[in-house]
Amino acid sequence: MTMVPKKSQLPPPKIVPSILSADFRKLGEEVRKVEKAGADMLHFDIMDGHFVPNISFGPMVVKALRKEVSIPFLVHLMVENPEVILDQTIDSGADIILFHVEVSPHLWRILESIKERGVKAGAALNPSTPLSTIEYFIEELDMVLLMTVNPGFGGQRLIPKMLDKIRDFRRSLIEKKIMLDIAVDGGVTFENVEDIIEAGANVIIAGTTIFGQEDVEEATRRLKKLAEEKYSRIISFYL
Ligand code: DX5
Ligand code: ZN
Repeated sequence: MTMVPKKSQLPPPKIVPSILSADFRKLGEEVRKVEKAGADMLHFDIMDGHFVPNISFGPMVVKALRKEVSIPFLVHLMVENPEVILDQTIDSGADIILFHVEVSPHLWRILESIKERGVKAGAALNPSTPLSTIEYFIEELDMVLLMTVNPGFGGQRLIPKMLDKIRDFRRSLIEKKIMLDIAVDGGVTFENVEDIIEAGANVIIAGTTIFGQEDVEEATRRLKKLAEEKYSRIISFYL
């Protein structure tokens, strides 16, 4: 890594389980477990069967789980026309809403509709979408999510080239002196999480690696420990 991150330039890691891979028969229990094990937020994929070739769940599920845990909710709108369900999503208790930059020529309008209701907003980019798409509103964003698999399904392998994208993005943020959360979504494993942190991402979204394990709490703690230890090594090396 050629960049020189200082603590003020590299936000600390956050572990964010994605409920897409959870056992839907007992979602309440599953989310309570990850919160207890130290998950920093929860990730929800709302899919419409158009923007991605899969249908998951809507804001009702987010609302129901809001009563179970108190960690922040990160809602990933993998839908065309996100405007249609923005209000419902906000009312469901979302703390951060991520919209895809590929879905609309009116991204400013979407961004403003989220922010004017006092909710944080983030942009999500598919693997082949260039970073330049967010260049002119980056300062307005609370988070940028980089998809590291083709969106729509859990349990896929991370596209290795995406590590270059994360690195390029963190480097450009450091150059511009912007401290921003970079989220990675898709194919995060115990084996690659350190490389992801080293590349410069800090919001670690993981579905299968957490909810696909026998012991969900242990998996959460293990992923968090790997990420935090790697982060500490990077920071202490460059301090
Ligand atoms: C994928 C979704 C992810 C998914 C990740 O399209 O956006 O949030 O849950 O699942 P894993 O971690 O299994 O790749
Ligand atoms: Zn997602």
